[in-house]
Amino acid sequence: MRRLITVGSVKGAPGVTTTALALAAVWPERADGGVRPVVVEADVSGGDLAVRFGCPHTPGLLDVATSARQERQGSLLGAATDLSFGVRVVAAPVGGRACAEAVRLVAGAGQHVLLGEGDDRGTVLLDVGRITEAAVGLLEVAEVVVLVSRGGADALAHAYAHLSEDGVHVERYVLAVVGPCPYAAGEITATLGVSRVVFLPWDPKAADILAGRARSELRTSGWRALRLLAAAGDAARQLSGTGEVAVKGLSGDLAGLGAVPHPGGRLRPVADLATKESAS
Ligand SMILES: Nc1ncnc2c1ncn2[C@@H]1O[C@H](COP(=O)(O)OP(=O)(O)OP(=O)(O)O)[C@@H](O)[C@H]1O
Ligand SMILES: [Mg+2]
Repeated sequence: MRRLITVGSVKGAPGVTTTALALAAVWPERADGGVRPVVVEADVSGGDLAVRFGCPHTPGLLDVATSARQERQGSLLGAATDLSFGVRVVAAPVGGRACAEAVRLVAGAGQHVLLGEGDDRGTVLLDVGRITEAAVGLLEVAEVVVLVSRGGADALAHAYAHLSEDGVHVERYVLAVVGPCPYAAGEITATLGVSRVVFLPWDPKAADILAGRARSELRTSGWRALRLLAAAGDAARQLSGTGEVAVKGLSGDLAGLGAVPHPGGRLRPVADLATKESAS
């Protein structure tokens, strides 16, 4: 079976799609027996990749959804397209009812197409965009949920609200904080109740490449050394289990992401963060 890593947000557009692509671009070659990961756009609001990279959205998510309806399992990789920087993606249409319906189908019967058969290897990085009811089924089967947030008190308060909801498996979550953040990892883990945090820098040059806005930059060797990709590489090593230390129950060294385990599981109000920010 493939490993499923769901990437999503709770508010705004903090960089979910960019983060999913960054992780895939630097996914360790030795992970998953050398099988490259695939990014699947399953955002109920519609996809961005087809427009950003000028590629068709078929084959893509609609084909995965169609095969979810069929008795015989369809091929996930058959619905994938290679982007210019070597990441393969299953693209979604820009929106509309067909896209929303496709996400619902994939979140239900389509899960088996994402996960594949017993001998299928590899990682699916599933971009669900904003985490809504439609995506719940895709959180349930995820080995890890990467919750992407900006680093301010307001954004983290929304993350806190989501993490403290009933039915949320907080132990499976990694919080990816994009851009400036005045808080240390330990402060965030203790306040939000999530045990793993990764910081991804604000890096417009890398983000432009990952959004198809700077194709000429791809000719520059070493673009994978840009700050965002370097940080994503650290996270990808932990998520893929190719980090140095293994964490029991999870496939990777998630403790090495810089987090301090939350003592006792009690959540402190996120208002503490706001107070601290205004005081500084
Ligand atoms: N680390 C970053 N550094 C600089 N710019 C970034 C970074 N991450 C994302 N961006 C930029 O922010 C904008 C939104 O990013 P992205 O499309 O990844 O967000 P999203 O959360 O997927 O949004 P949506 O919910 O609309 O799909 C894009 O213009 C992207 O290039
Ligand atoms: Mg997106």
